Amino acid sequence: MPKTKTMYVCQNCGAVSARWQGKCASCEEWNTIVEEVVETEGPHARANVVQAPAPIPITDGSHGQLQRHSTGMGEFNRVLGGGIVPGSLTLVGGDPGIGKSTLMLQVSHYLAEHHGKTLYVSGEESFSQTRMRATRLAALNDRLLILTETSVAAIAKHIREGEFAFVVIDSIQAVYTAQLSAVPGSIGQVRECANEFQRLAKGLQIPVFLVGHVTKDGAIAGPRLLEHLVDTVLYFEGEGRQALRILRAVKNRFGSTNEIGVFEMRETGLHEVANPSALFLHERPEGVSGSVVLPSIEGTRPVLVEVQALVGDAHAGSPRRTVTGVNPNRVSLLLAVLEKRAGFHFADRDVFVNVAGGVRLDEPAADLPVAIALASSYYEAPVRAHLAAFGEIGLAGEVRAVDMVRQRVVEAAKFGFEQCLVPQGSAKDVDGLGARVLPVFRLAEALKSALER
Ligand code: TYD
Ligand code: MG
Repeated sequence: MPKTKTMYVCQNCGAVSARWQGKCASCEEWNTIVEEVVETEGPHARANVVQAPAPIPITDGSHGQLQRHSTGMGEFNRVLGGGIVPGSLTLVGGDPGIGKSTLMLQVSHYLAEHHGKTLYVSGEESFSQTRMRATRLAALNDRLLILTETSVAAIAKHIREGEFAFVVIDSIQAVYTAQLSAVPGSIGQVRECANEFQRLAKGLQIPVFLVGHVTKDGAIAGPRLLEHLVDTVLYFEGEGRQALRILRAVKNRFGSTNEIGVFEMRETGLHEVANPSALFLHERPEGVSGSVVLPSIEGTRPVLVEVQALVGDAHAGSPRRTVTGVNPNRVSLLLAVLEKRAGFHFADRDVFVNVAGGVRLDEPAADLPVAIALASSYYEAPVRAHLAAFGEIGLAGEVRAVDMVRQRVVEAAKFGFEQCLVPQGSAKDVDGLGARVLPVFRLAEALKSALER
């Protein structure tokens, strides 16, 4: 066993002290000092030189092959970059009650059935609770073992001796190491425990999944803290009581972070949604102002989403700007462009922008639909029926080219959109894909084509 001792480290400046203090003596910040285990000897001792591996020519192909194991769900595999990588440490974060345990139990069952002995460590629920859930999910298998334990040392012993193919820790906030006196869930505990699982995953080449709760105010030590430490960070998200769930990679050492996986929570657990466009559009009202459809690209896949806006009279004080699903700064910019280049006045108007279904858009192609939805609500003029739109908007009010145009138009046509507003610079060679392509160059002209007025 390497020698360790407990130290107190300032999270702001890194100063190390022998006892806890409310205020760091070095940087004078308050409440930044956290208890940590520090190895004084052994491979992880500070300022110790780790045994150095020899350099390998980059052209050596024998090291590069990543083997991956399926999770049994295509939506999950895609978000991981193709499947689970041996020895990887993955964090699955999300609000309490969103379905993290359900998801991980379903995956554990699949791996137990198809891959090998699987350990599901339940630090929050009893064996019978977990078994009840597994029964409801039809996730019973002799190779799926449940361990109700919160001591990391005890869990580690089972992992080392159990020859598991896959391990889930539910949750990282529930487990603790006796080396620290802090309570489970505190910053020091969460980090030290995660470190231990990282060592186990790498040392034994077992994929380990950590479940982590996110709190809205971020008060409790959570996934944020672990982002740099793990290989992959996934967030499991959903809107309130709706059944829709989105799995999103925010960090992935083994794949892209653009992909999303879409699921539906039903009585029988999580079900993949193979056709998100249909799901995102199914409640869309027709003939109402302030709504337009964007063929968006989520990772490698086109998905149709509804962009909504509501423009109303501001009553007291400064007008409101409430934005969900797109970057609020981008909306401010679009409001300014609409004012300057298209004759709108938002100074005494409240503005709300929303993307239906809890989708978050992070691409410039959303500019044009946001502007159209705003204009549509402003004039109380519905967007033309069966029209979809995408394009980036520049400060001069020009509609700029975006990527993956063909996929967007094809997806729109597939769902009965007969016309697509497309940036002129992107409109080459995309005719005859099922939807009529209307090239647009200026925002004002795009609004004219989009609205029924
Ligand atoms: P859970 O996986 O416990 O969430 P988390 O681990 O993220 O806290 O799931 C929470 C909710 O999911 C719970 O309120 C009940 C619901 N649920 C279903 O609707 N169907 C199911 O098959 C299961 C297992 C749960
Ligand atoms: Mg849970």
